[in-house]
Amino acid sequence: MKSLIFGAAVCLLLLGLLFLPACSQVKRLSSYDSQAKELLSLMTLEEKIGQMTQPEQGPLLENPGDIQKYFIGSVLSGGNSDPAEGNSLEAWTNLYDRIQAEALKTRLAIPILYGIDAVHGHSNVLSAVMFPHNIGLGCTRDPVLVEKIGRITAEEVRATGIQWTFSPCVAVPQDIRWGRTYEGFSEDPAVVRSLGEAAVRGMQGVDLGHPLSILACAKHYVGDGGTSATTAGRPGVPPANMGRLWLDQGDTKIDEATLRRIHLPGYIAAVNSGVGSIMPSYSSWNGTRCSASKRLLTEILKQELGFEGFLISDYNAIGQVKPGDYKGAIEISINAGMDMAMEPDHYRDFFEKLKELVHEGRVPMSRIDDAVTRILRVKFAMGLMDKNRSQFADRKLHGSFGSASHRAVAREAVRKSLVLLKNEGRTLPISRKIAHIHVCGKSADNIGNQCGGWTVQWQGQSGNVTPGGTTVLDAVKAAVSGATRVNYSEDGTGAQGASLAIAVIGERPYAEGVGDRSDLALEAEDIRAVDNLKSLGIPVVVILISGRPMIINSVLARADAFIAAFLPGTEGQGIADVVFGDYGPTGKLSFSWPKSMDQLPLNTNGPKDEYAPLFPLGYGLSY
Ligand code: BGC
Ligand code: BGC
Repeated sequence: MKSLIFGAAVCLLLLGLLFLPACSQVKRLSSYDSQAKELLSLMTLEEKIGQMTQPEQGPLLENPGDIQKYFIGSVLSGGNSDPAEGNSLEAWTNLYDRIQAEALKTRLAIPILYGIDAVHGHSNVLSAVMFPHNIGLGCTRDPVLVEKIGRITAEEVRATGIQWTFSPCVAVPQDIRWGRTYEGFSEDPAVVRSLGEAAVRGMQGVDLGHPLSILACAKHYVGDGGTSATTAGRPGVPPANMGRLWLDQGDTKIDEATLRRIHLPGYIAAVNSGVGSIMPSYSSWNGTRCSASKRLLTEILKQELGFEGFLISDYNAIGQVKPGDYKGAIEISINAGMDMAMEPDHYRDFFEKLKELVHEGRVPMSRIDDAVTRILRVKFAMGLMDKNRSQFADRKLHGSFGSASHRAVAREAVRKSLVLLKNEGRTLPISRKIAHIHVCGKSADNIGNQCGGWTVQWQGQSGNVTPGGTTVLDAVKAAVSGATRVNYSEDGTGAQGASLAIAVIGERPYAEGVGDRSDLALEAEDIRAVDNLKSLGIPVVVILISGRPMIINSVLARADAFIAAFLPGTEGQGIADVVFGDYGPTGKLSFSWPKSMDQLPLNTNGPKDEYAPLFPLGYGLSY
C-alpha cells in the first residue's frame, strides 16, 4: 500500500514537472476575477448582454449609434467585410479606431474587442504578408517557425488596431474532400497538437497584455474535420446544390473515445498554452449541433479541461440550432455554455431575445454572469481595461506591415513546407546557369492561386489579389543567372528549345463548403500543359498548388520531378530557394495522399490493413 502511494506521488510529481513550464509562463485568466467581478457588479442586464453580442462592422455602421444603444462589446469583420472606405491599411485602421471611439462613449467605457480571420497572416488586408495555409505549415513539423509566424501575424493585426484573430484552426481533417482541409495542420492529431499550441503561443505571447499580442481563438470545437460525407442536401441549400457532396458543417458520427483521441488534443494544447477564446463548430456530434451541446461546451471544455476563456459562436451558427425558433436556439446555445454570439446582422434581435429569455427565467442570471465574467477576464488580461493605455491603433506599426523582414519568414515557411514527391534522374535541383527554362501552367504567374481562400476575400480569387508578393514565375526569373533565358506560357505551348520546364498547376481558390469536392482530379488544362511539354521531350518539374492532395497519377508518371507546394501564400521565392538548390527539401506530408477517389476517406486513423496510399503521411524526399 505504502509503495503504491509513493508510486502515485512520484507519478504526480513527474506529471507536474511536465506541465510546469507551460503553467509558469502564462498567467491564468481567472487571476483577473476580482477585477472582472467588481466591474460585473456595476453592470445592468443590458450592459451584460451587450458584452455577449458581436455584430459585423458593415451592418453595425449602418447605425453607428447602436454601439452605445446596445452596449456592444465586440465587433467582427468576416471574410468579405472590408471597410467602406476601401481595402487599405489606413482604411482598416480608421475603421477600428472609429468603432473603438464609439464604444468608449458608453457609460462604463468598456473597449471593443475586434475580431477577424487572420488565418494565414492578416489575410483580409491588402499588402499584408500571407503565409502558407496550415496544411503547408503542417509539412514543416516546425513549432518554432509556427510560433514566429504567430508573432508576425499578431504584429500585422495590431497595426490595424485589431486585437483578436479567429485562429488557429485546430481541425483534424479526416477526409480531404472537405473544402476546409487546408485550414488544418494535419490529419494527425499529434501534429495539430504541437503546431496549434505553437500558434497560440506565437499570437498571444507569454503575456496577453503585451501591446503586440493578440487574442487567439482555437476553432472549430470539436470534430469539424470528422464529418461524414452526404449527398442528402442541407437545410437552406438551394435545390440546384442538392445531390452534391457535402462534408462542411455536417455530422461527426463517432463515439466519445474516438472524438477525444482524434479531435480533442488540439484543444487540450490550446488551453494549456492559455488560449483566451474558442469557437464551437457549426458541425454536429452524433446529431447534436456542437453549438447546442452542454456536454461539449460546459462539461468537457470548461469543467474538465479547465478552459477559463470565452466561447464565441460561429457566423450565424446559433440560428442553426434546432428544434425551435431563433429564440429557442439562443436559449439552448447560451444554456449549453456559449458566451458570445457572432450575429453579423441580426444582433438587435439576439440582444432583445436574450433579454426576454432572462426575464422569463429561461436563461439563468448565473449563466449570463459566467459568460460576461469570462469575456471581462480576457479584456482585463489583454490590458483593454487599463486606463493608462490607449485603446486606439498604434500607427507606428504601419512601418513594419508587410515588410521585407516579415516576408523573409514567410519565404522560410514556404521552402520548409514543400514536399518533394518525385525526383527522377536528379532533375532537381536546377542549375542557375541552365540555358533556357520554360515556365507554364495556370498558377505559374498567379498570386491569388498561391494564396487560396481566405485571402483578401472570403473565397479568395485568382489573379493579382494583393500587391507585394512574388509569383513562381517572378521567383524563377529572379533566381537564374543573367545568361539564362526564361519564357512563359499559360498552356505550355511555345516551349521549343527549352532545356527544362516548370509547370505550376492545381486548384483555384475556395473556402468552406464551396470547396467540398467529390472529384479531386486535375483539370484538363493542367494535364494538357504537361502533355505539351512532354510531347517536345522536355524534362518537366511539376509544382502542384492546391489546398490538399489531388489525384495526380498520370501527371506524376510523366513528370521528372514533382513538388507538392499546397497553398504557399505570397512568397513564391521560397519555391525558387528549393528548386535551385539553395535549400534542400525537408517537408513531410501532413496528409496521406490517395491513389484514387474511391479510397477516400483515407487517413492513418482508419483501419491499418486498408491503408494503401500513393504516398503515406510523413512522406517526403530530399536531396
Ligand atoms: C462571410 C464569412 C463567413 C461566411 C459564412 C461570408 O459572407 O464573409 O466571414 O465565414 O459568410 O458562411
Ligand atoms: C467560419 C469561421 C470564421 C467565421 C468568421 C465562419 O463561416 O466557419 O471559421 O471564423 O465565419 O468569418
